[in-house]
This record gives sequence, structure tokens and C-alpha cells, in this order.
Amino acid sequence: MARLSQEKINEIRQSVDIVDVIGQYLSLEKKGRNYIALCPFHDDSRPSMSVSPDKQIFMCFVCGTGGNVFSFLQKYLKISYIEAVKKVAEMGRVDLSEYHLDVEKRPENPQHVALYQMHQEAQKIYSYYLNTKLGLEAKTYLMNRHFTDELIKEFQIGYAPIDPVLHTAFSKLGYHEIDMAKSGLVIESQSHFDRFNDRIMFPLYNQQGQVVGFSGRIYKPTQSDSKYMNSPESEIFIKGQTLYHYHQCREAVKQAGFVYLLEGFMDVIAMYKAGIENTVAIMGTALTKGHIQALRRLTNTVYLCLDGDQAGQAAMSKAAYELEAAGFKVKIIILPDGHDPDEIYEEHGKTGLEEALRRTLKPIEFLMEFEYRMVDPLNYDDRKNYLEKMCFEITQLNDDIDRDYYMHILSSKSGFSYEVILQHVAGMKPKHQEEYIHREVKKTIQLVDKYKKAEHDLLFYMLNNKAVALKYEAKAGFMYNDQYRVLASYIVDYYRHHNHIEVADLIDSIQKEELIQTVLEISQSALPLPCEEQAIDDYIQTIASNARKMKKEQLLEQFNYILDPSQKAQILSEIVKLESEKESI
Ligand code: UTP
Ligand code: MN
Repeated sequence: MARLSQEKINEIRQSVDIVDVIGQYLSLEKKGRNYIALCPFHDDSRPSMSVSPDKQIFMCFVCGTGGNVFSFLQKYLKISYIEAVKKVAEMGRVDLSEYHLDVEKRPENPQHVALYQMHQEAQKIYSYYLNTKLGLEAKTYLMNRHFTDELIKEFQIGYAPIDPVLHTAFSKLGYHEIDMAKSGLVIESQSHFDRFNDRIMFPLYNQQGQVVGFSGRIYKPTQSDSKYMNSPESEIFIKGQTLYHYHQCREAVKQAGFVYLLEGFMDVIAMYKAGIENTVAIMGTALTKGHIQALRRLTNTVYLCLDGDQAGQAAMSKAAYELEAAGFKVKIIILPDGHDPDEIYEEHGKTGLEEALRRTLKPIEFLMEFEYRMVDPLNYDDRKNYLEKMCFEITQLNDDIDRDYYMHILSSKSGFSYEVILQHVAGMKPKHQEEYIHREVKKTIQLVDKYKKAEHDLLFYMLNNKAVALKYEAKAGFMYNDQYRVLASYIVDYYRHHNHIEVADLIDSIQKEELIQTVLEISQSALPLPCEEQAIDDYIQTIASNARKMKKEQLLEQFNYILDPSQKAQILSEIVKLESEKESI
């Protein structure tokens, strides 16, 4: 049984393109030679992760997370290194059959296993009952709403009969009463009852596609309970992280380049009927940070299409603001007559729905309309208020032309002159986040002292050229910065077996997170290549003289507290030796 050699691992890594692999999980946008994306490893609000096809590495310049294709999969999918290597080998069709790779199974929380199993079981039981006599009326209701058998199967829709079928089945299967209650499917009371009875059941899934809850709809005019009843939150069902249809929409979102964010699962299903699958639904709740985090892993463009009533539109305005602040591109769709996608589909069919979805508004256009509806045109304060709000929104736009365009629109809408608006907008402070970041970065760079900079830049050239690394080893062999020193030794070491370094390979031998971040950062430096011989000598000179300086300070300190004369003499001679080395480089 062979062991995976570094060479084999390099071969596996080279069998795929990091851009393709990351592109399966994040929405990448080409920028110059690289690609950028919203970083999934921190709460990113602008695309700060960069993926380099040349170097086959990724790196976030805000949180510092970076690495090669293995590191990405490890972190993103929360899998082990060896699992990531296997996964990449599969993608790149590298045969690993002669290797015996032990992949430790990710330990699933044993307490959750029963909960997942019960939900899976429940889904099967509900599906079964929909096609029995007991479910006939429910099925007829679905048929009237143009659900086909294919659709029912796709969304795993079922029926919960009046009798507590789950409790009976779970008891037979030997589940504990406590776990049944925990699942939320059974309500703990004197005797046990199923939570859902006489409802059409829609399974709700987590982001991995496991059933973690249900929503049950009434279907008879005689039923007076709330229209939908949902599973309560549980250890496996967290509403603020649940987006309906999330695990099924990835491919379609990738193709379309954006996702529709809808109100309810009936809307998702209606869109599906019309052949549109790049959809998710928040299911009647407000948009949470958890939702935004999940969306980030899908795309950077969201088309918001929530309910058309006043509450829905207010929610839309808030969601648009939050999504934009989180770095998403946002468009808003207001469907005619306050209808939802399902109602449009029922009334106007596939083409009618497609047509309605084509009318998209930018958030600023939507806000101008939405806020204006609350203005009494005869009330001066109202209008002034409106003007100030909209002027502020205009300052948030990044593009001069856009700003000018919307100032004109605002002028004609509000009745205030363009000049007044222009003056007002000019007087307001825009966010200028970008400038701020640049200033901060510049400041930090200035703070870095010249020795550190010399070490940093020399490392860059060592990565690019074996001769430079050898020269460093021969003439300096020491860096004052701890991280840089260790990195330098990794680099020198790597060159013992190779003539050339691919950073993406080197980091596999490093393993230490902070060191990897540092080497990635260094490798991305915008320094001129090839390097001038003289520049290298200068770096080495600076580094060596700093090393001597530090060493001398250390020796002097020792000299001062050591009392033994012979030891003192020894230290003194070392100091003299250091002084004489100065000339020899
Ligand atoms: P809607 O009231 O818009 O339902 O609620 P809908 O999608 O149009 O459904 P139909 O067409 O009447 O069958 C949107 C979402 O809000 C949640 C559900 O998740 C639903 O998908 N909701 C609604 C509830 O949780 N409980 C309710 O009583 C109503
Ligand atoms: Mn509806």
C-alpha cells in the first residue's frame, strides 16, 4: 500500500483549476488577471477574496484566510485535509485506487441522528398518506392548484392525516418519547399527539438538503386554523438559517448569475412550474444574518420579490438595504396588483410571469417610489423630509452619472430644483469607504520598518528564484521577524528537492495557518520581476546588518549582567567578531 507522496499530492492539485473548484461554491467575478468573490469566511460586505488562476491560490485581504484548492475545500466544507485531497482527485480524475486513504468520518452529533431520521421517516409517511383515501381531498386541492405528480414528488409534498400516525410509527421504531418531543413532530402532553393533523405537508430542508421541519397547510374551507403551521425551532431546525429550496437551486443560480428571493414556498413552486429554478424563499420571516451568510455562498446578485402589500414592501426596502450593505447587487421586482408569483402564474401563465419578472427596479428607484407613497404632496415638511432622505440615498451611489441621473428624477418628483438638490447632495458626506481602507492600508505599510520590509521583499524574491534563496542562506541565514525566519527556512528546504516553487504546493508542507497567510500575502506582492542583482544584495545587507545589530544588543546586555571575567571576555570577542563581519559582506 503506497503512501501519498508530495509529488502525488502536487499532481492531484494540478489536475484541477482552483477557479473552477471555487466557482462551484462562490460566485466569481473576473477582475484583471484574478477573480474576486465575497469571502465566505468572514462577514464580508464587499468582494475581498481574490482567486489567482496563475498562482492557483485564493486569499481574502480582509480576514487573511487563504490557501490552495485543498485548503479552500477543507475550510469551506469543513472536511479534513485528506478528504479534501480525495475530493480534488475525484474532480481531476486522478486515480487513487492503489492508495489506501483512511477518511475519518465526521462525527455527527449522535443526539441529532435520531432527529434527522425521524424527519426522514415522517416525510415518507406523509408522502404515503397523500396517495391514500385519507389524502384524497388534499390531493384534489393540490391538483386544483395545478400540482402535477412530478411536482409533488420533486418537492416531496405529503399529507398528515387526523390520526397521530407519526407517534405510532416512531413508537414502533423504538424512538424515545423525549426525542419525539425534541423533534417537534410530536407534542408532549398527557398522551402523545402528532403536531400536524389534517394538513398538506411541505418538508423544509437544511442547507445540506436534509429534512429538518415541516410546514402544513389547511386545504378545506371548513378549516379555520392558521393557514400554515410550522415546526417549532429545534436543535436541527433553525429558522433564521433556513431558506426554502436552497440546496436545490445552486446549478440554476450559477447559470442565471442571480437568485430570486421570494416570500414563501408556494412562490418557489410556482416559479418552478414556469421553469424558473434559481429561487429561494425566506418563508414569511424577516431576512436574517444567517440568510445573508447562506446567500453569500450562492451568488452576489439577488432579485428581491417579496409580497406586494405595504408590509412586504417595507420588508423589501429593509432587505435591499441590508443586502447592499453586505455587498450584494440588488434588484427589486414589484409584481402587478400586489400579487405573488403563484397568483401571477395562475392568472397569466408562464409567459405572464416571465413578463412580470422582467420589470426590475434598482433599489434607489424602488425607494423613490416607495417613500413617495407616504408623502402628502400638500405638506411642505413631508416633501422636504422626502427630499433629504433621497438626497442621502443618492450620495450612497458610487457612479457620477447615476447620481446626476437620479438627482434629475428626484427634482421632477419632489418639485425642488435640480440646483438645490445638487448643492444639498454635494454638502452631504458620502461613505468613501474605499478611500478610508486605502488610507488605513497605507498607514500600516508605513509603520512596517525597513528591516521587516527588506525581509518581506527578499522572501518574495526567494519564492521566485532559487539562486536568491541560496544567496540568503549563504550570506544572511537569519531573519529577525520570527515568522519570516521560519518561512525562509521552509523555502530553503523546499529548494533542496526542487528547482522551482509553486506557492500552492509549498503551503502544503507548511501546515501552520498564520504562516500560510503570510506566505500567500508575500507571494501576492506587486514587486518588479525579475529581480535586480543589486537589489537582492541590498536586502541581504540590510537584513544581515539588522541581525548583527540585534545580536550585538543581546551580547551587550549579557556582558552587563555577567560577572565572570572569562565569560565577559568571551562575549567581548564575539562582539568584536560581529563588528568585523560588517565589512566582509
Ligand atoms: P403567504 O401568506 O404569502 O402564503 O405566506 P403563500 O405563499 O401565498 O401561500 P398560499 O398561496 O396562500 O398557499 C408566505 C409564507 O409565510 C409563511 C409561510 O412560510 C409561507 O410560505 N406563513 C404564512 C406562515 O408561516 N404562517 C401563515 O399562517 C402564513
Ligand atoms: Mn400565494
